[in-house]
Amino acid sequence: MNNQPIGVFDSGLGGLTVMRELKRLLPNEELIYFGDTARVPYGSRSPETILKYVASDIRFLRQFNVKMIVAACGTASSVALPLLREESDIPLISVVEPAAAAAVRRTHSGPIGILGTQGTINSGAFRKAIAAIDPQMGILQKACPMFVPLVENGYINPENPVTRLVVREYLEELCTAGVETVIMGCTHYPLLEGFLKEALPEKVSLVNMGQATAEYVKTYLIETDSVREPQEPPRLRYFWSEQSKNLDMFRFDSELYDCLNQMQEIEIDGV
Ligand code: DGL
Repeated sequence: MNNQPIGVFDSGLGGLTVMRELKRLLPNEELIYFGDTARVPYGSRSPETILKYVASDIRFLRQFNVKMIVAACGTASSVALPLLREESDIPLISVVEPAAAAAVRRTHSGPIGILGTQGTINSGAFRKAIAAIDPQMGILQKACPMFVPLVENGYINPENPVTRLVVREYLEELCTAGVETVIMGCTHYPLLEGFLKEALPEKVSLVNMGQATAEYVKTYLIETDSVREPQEPPRLRYFWSEQSKNLDMFRFDSELYDCLNQMQEIEIDGV
């Protein structure tokens, strides 16, 4: 048993799609979320800057004496975690490997499409993780730099014509290549899932990194005997580095809206 909380972070709101799955699968665990909304997006920045931001996100969460930290961010997991893990004395959980394994499991002939930020795609992290399981698997990667700003600005209403157009444009290549499975390689993308499904052929299977990672975390906690003992309901805490200006745009996703309303603003590294 281990009653310490689990830290979860992202560059912004996307990691709340991972929180959603962690809450569902681990309803007895205390979770502390941090979204670095003052510095989002991470994906278009240099690896050095991403590393610096992720290190400070981890420092913030460590103040709460967390038992592990989930990098609920494809970019942080791909670019910074391999380096930061080396010096960490608590587990730093990546969303990349669980999602890659889930994608390979459900793919018969391929190819697997990977959608992600520019930083994630440039890092080649998903390509490596898939090749480690199945070196023959076909892979097609596509960076979608407009998706994170669309989500952070609340353009997630299923009727939004701008988002629909941008999604179609980015997914065209994957549709032409006949992908069998697509990894939503950025945690913001499940908030665009309706648009993605609409743009892809019906038979394409979409991998949600939050689901795959929550399953991985659950197994890890059980295997290492670190689950929280059943007691009073767990506390869930939410922090961000800048209050969103567009809260009303998220109103129709009540679970997300509820989390956003519990956010406390904190200062990180003087930002
Ligand atoms: N949710 C982050 C990810 O999974 C978005 C990164 C960004 O801020 O560009 O990659």
